[in-house]
Amino acid sequence: MSRHLLDITDLSAEELRTILHLAQRVDLPRPLEGLGVALIFEKPSNRTRQSMEMAVFQLGGHPVYTRGEEVGFDVRESAEDITHVMAGYHGMLAARVFSHSIVTRMAAVSPVPVVNMLSDHSHPLQALADVLTMQQVHGAVVGLPVAYVGDYNNVSRSLAEALVLLGGSLALGCPLGYHADDAELERLNGLGPGSVTQVHRPAEAVAGAVAVHTDSWTSMGQETEKQQRKVAFEGFTVDDEMMTHAAAGAGFYHCLPAYRGLEVAAEVIDGPHSHVYAQAHNRLHAARGALAFLMGVH
Ligand code: CP
Ligand code: NVA
Repeated sequence: MSRHLLDITDLSAEELRTILHLAQRVDLPRPLEGLGVALIFEKPSNRTRQSMEMAVFQLGGHPVYTRGEEVGFDVRESAEDITHVMAGYHGMLAARVFSHSIVTRMAAVSPVPVVNMLSDHSHPLQALADVLTMQQVHGAVVGLPVAYVGDYNNVSRSLAEALVLLGGSLALGCPLGYHADDAELERLNGLGPGSVTQVHRPAEAVAGAVAVHTDSWTSMGQETEKQQRKVAFEGFTVDDEMMTHAAAGAGFYHCLPAYRGLEVAAEVIDGPHSHVYAQAHNRLHAARGALAFLMGVH
């Protein structure tokens, strides 16, 4: 049976550590030699498309970039038909989708690994790069005080899952209405040795953190809510003042694309403690590690 990567929770803590280790290896075999990988995008992408195409290439495979509307999930044909057909051409299928149910339905029928390249629910490839970058900057994430300020969304859910599995300590600072509910906090805290707490005042979440993360207030697909979100997230901009509550010299992280003046001030993202470009570059290494793992390299 094929392994899939739809969520970080598809991995055990040990497997997550294996992927992070593979991500840093320079001597990986080429498990995709002679195989194709379909990369289907229902939404725009810079980092995910570029890093996945290059990861596939570096593992010996051939990426086939495909726009979502070309295949038309459940419009032109069903997600199941698309998956059955494509699995006959490719050694792996990857998709960026609006609805997470598309990737779960693909995985349910696919004889080859399916990778979630971002859905409304989660962004596991981003979380791999996030923890890889924090490991490189801070040495390890075990016991690391991390803060996430902003929307409880696909990016923060996957980051939280990875940190709990690895033993990190995450403080969420999310406005009411855009927060993790109690059931979600309980689920997260049950995943592993790490912990997730939540407050609604961002300065409290950031207090003592050595790594401060944020993401855009309006995710792809939520554009009509942009104005309402701008109001709801007032006071949640990660700026120099907010960073004074963190540990001295705390790192700043953002999956990008970033909107300066909204979720982050230019003084922080363009400042000396920003690691956003390392994070973006680590998307390639993390993707290579994840794809190699799914192809059976351990
Ligand atoms: N961080 C991220 O997934 O970027 P893209 O949307 O550009 O792929
Ligand atoms: N939360 C953002 C992440 C973009 C990489 C979105 O879904 O648009």
